Amino acid sequence: MVVVCRPARMDDLKRAEEIVVASINELTERRGFGKMASSRPPNFQAFSLRDDTEGLWVADDDGEIAGFAWSWVCGELWFLAQLFVAPDRQSDGIGNELIRKTFAHAQLRGASIKALITFTFNNASQGLYIRHGIFPRFPIYMVSVPRDRLTSRLAAARLHLEPMNMKTARFDELALIDANALSVSREKHHRYLLGDSTTSAFTIHAGGEYVGYVYISDGHIGPLAVRRPDLVGPAFTAALSFAAESSSPIISAFVPGASEPALKIATDHGMRITFPMLLMSNRQFGDWICYLPRNPGFM
Ligand SMILES: CC(C)(COP(=O)(O)OP(=O)(O)OC[C@H]1O[C@@H](n2cnc3c(N)ncnc32)[C@H](O)[C@@H]1OP(=O)(O)O)[C@@H](O)C(=O)NCCC(=O)NCCS
Repeated sequence: MVVVCRPARMDDLKRAEEIVVASINELTERRGFGKMASSRPPNFQAFSLRDDTEGLWVADDDGEIAGFAWSWVCGELWFLAQLFVAPDRQSDGIGNELIRKTFAHAQLRGASIKALITFTFNNASQGLYIRHGIFPRFPIYMVSVPRDRLTSRLAAARLHLEPMNMKTARFDELALIDANALSVSREKHHRYLLGDSTTSAFTIHAGGEYVGYVYISDGHIGPLAVRRPDLVGPAFTAALSFAAESSSPIISAFVPGASEPALKIATDHGMRITFPMLLMSNRQFGDWICYLPRNPGFM
């Protein structure tokens, strides 16, 4: 039976998520990192599908999903949130076919920047992306620390956080902060996070100045963005102080290797690298000192 790449439907998303989790864990266990992924409801995938039906594709083998690709677009930026092939179906051309479909999405939406986050230890994905004109830029480290260990290392935060919700959010200011950090506005994604009951949202303030934002869920910090590079260290420290007061046993974040101040704060607070990842793109974009992504799919 020939594998057909077709647009994903809402009722594909749960099975696609299962394949993604199996594919991630097969890779991370094979490379000695243990299991990385656990199954979660595919809420952001469903949001993206409602937003733009051209961005999600499945490789369908007679009703069985053999692979899944999902990209989203914000302005000029096309981001490949997931590209996964079932472990027993890899190296057979399916990934290549799915990537062609998702590239057509970038072209359709007129997005000139293509980017993604992959595993530093996956030769196949990096080779595949390089072949398609997407090149490595810098590492991004998933870092974490047990909360008790963090608590003993916290210094007083210089910046303070204020809760943000759908009503109080100033979308014009969020757009300016994102334009500086990422070159694009992510208003629709702020609306998604602000509507997610498991995630807390905050604006970050230096005295009376509104300098950035951060989201925290289950002890995980990100995305975090600030207006200027000198603010990222204090902003990350303030987010760590807040997260340390939660009941989560582990506090984690996603820190770009391009952000020296954020990496220094992570190290000073006893955070360890759990998974090394890599940002790849067709060209340079954004100011990655000022932005800590949420995860490889949300960016
Ligand atoms: C990455 C992945 C999606 C690729 O899908 P696939 O169906 O196995 O890939 P294909 O068979 O279409 O293409 C494989 C290509 O990878 C590249 N590749 C494989 N091994 C490579 C290596 N050691 N060095 C460089 N390139 C390599 C080649 O370009 C190869 O194409 P070719 O054989 O025609 O030269 C799939 O392997 C997968 O799901 N991996 C685990 C999860 C993952 O890392 N996903 C990406 C997350 S961003």
